[in-house]
Amino acid sequence: ATTATTITITGAGGQIGYALLFRIAAGDMLGPDRPVRLRLLEIPQGMRAAEGAALELQDCAFALLHSVEVTDSAESAFDGASIALLVGARPRGPGMERADLLAANAGIFGPQGAALNAVAADDVRIVAVGNPANTNALIARASAPDIPADRFTALTRLDHNRAVGQLAEALDARPDDIHGVAIWGNHSASQFPDVSHATVAGKPVVDALAERLGGHEQALVWLDDLFIPRVAKRGAEIIEVRGSSSVASAANAAIEHVRDEQSGTAWTSAAVVSRGEYGVPEGLVCSFPVTSDGSGYRVVEGLDLDARSRARFDASVAELEAERTAVRELGLL
Ligand code: NAI
Repeated sequence: ATTATTITITGAGGQIGYALLFRIAAGDMLGPDRPVRLRLLEIPQGMRAAEGAALELQDCAFALLHSVEVTDSAESAFDGASIALLVGARPRGPGMERADLLAANAGIFGPQGAALNAVAADDVRIVAVGNPANTNALIARASAPDIPADRFTALTRLDHNRAVGQLAEALDARPDDIHGVAIWGNHSASQFPDVSHATVAGKPVVDALAERLGGHEQALVWLDDLFIPRVAKRGAEIIEVRGSSSVASAANAAIEHVRDEQSGTAWTSAAVVSRGEYGVPEGLVCSFPVTSDGSGYRVVEGLDLDARSRARFDASVAELEAERTAVRELGLL
């Protein structure tokens, strides 16, 4: 029998945790041939919720689920972990300044990075889901000097999938006929969802939009005034309509992020540690179009970005730099 893969989920007692655990245990992340061992990390206040989820996992009697452990110790949770989903984070409370938010999360992601460095498996791959996801991944990485930088990623797959969903609706197309969408920059409202390299059933998306909307100029207006803000602010729209934040779609995106990183993909979006691609300062955890051959995400290089695209991307990268500077000024990096 195949040995089980150890997967650690932090914040497992929270909403996204609850939407993630059952799908992972059912095989949606690693496939039907790879059994899993789940480690649920919580803080003391979240332990009962995580324990309750563990009881329900038992009640599903999943064939692929070899064990579930619930703990509030990062060292136990990450021991031997090959996949770490860092979901638990400190949300922005009322009146909380950005610096307070960054500091509170550095206090979570720094120690978790150190614990990963000490006890995770040699092949560990880490994805930060908890916000501010890019900078949380940067902080975890800074505390884990022995783990190669390319093992650290942050989730922008939800933004990517949201962009595909919007295009599918506008073009009356199936999501899987749409390829080449890219999310550039930060997982925040400053992100740049880019369709300039995207195709629908093999045809450039911009041309397909122009046909539907009555011209190239109309297509650009739709992209600038409707598509980009809708994707970038979709989280707020979900809260407004649903009365609660994106949970199932976020969990789905996290599953697809890990699945495609592990099993390979020709193209998706993920935030990875910059090695200077597209002039992004080294070390920032920035979203790019990426590929994977199964050994981790690599930035798709050599794409043309026109001046308008470049300006949007640069603005989001500037926000990432400002977050890094703020964390440094707090003495946390
Ligand atoms: P939630 O508040 O329901 O759950 C968070 C859980 O994390 C809680 O159970 C809490 O006890 C736990 N937690 C807090 N600090 C912890 C620590 N130090 N160690 C372990 N667990 C800890 O929140 P929800 O809805 O599950 O969202 C989680 C995070 O994901 C939030 O930061 C949210 O902003 C982010 N998010 C990111 C998305 C992305 O696309 N990157 C999309 C949607 C949400």
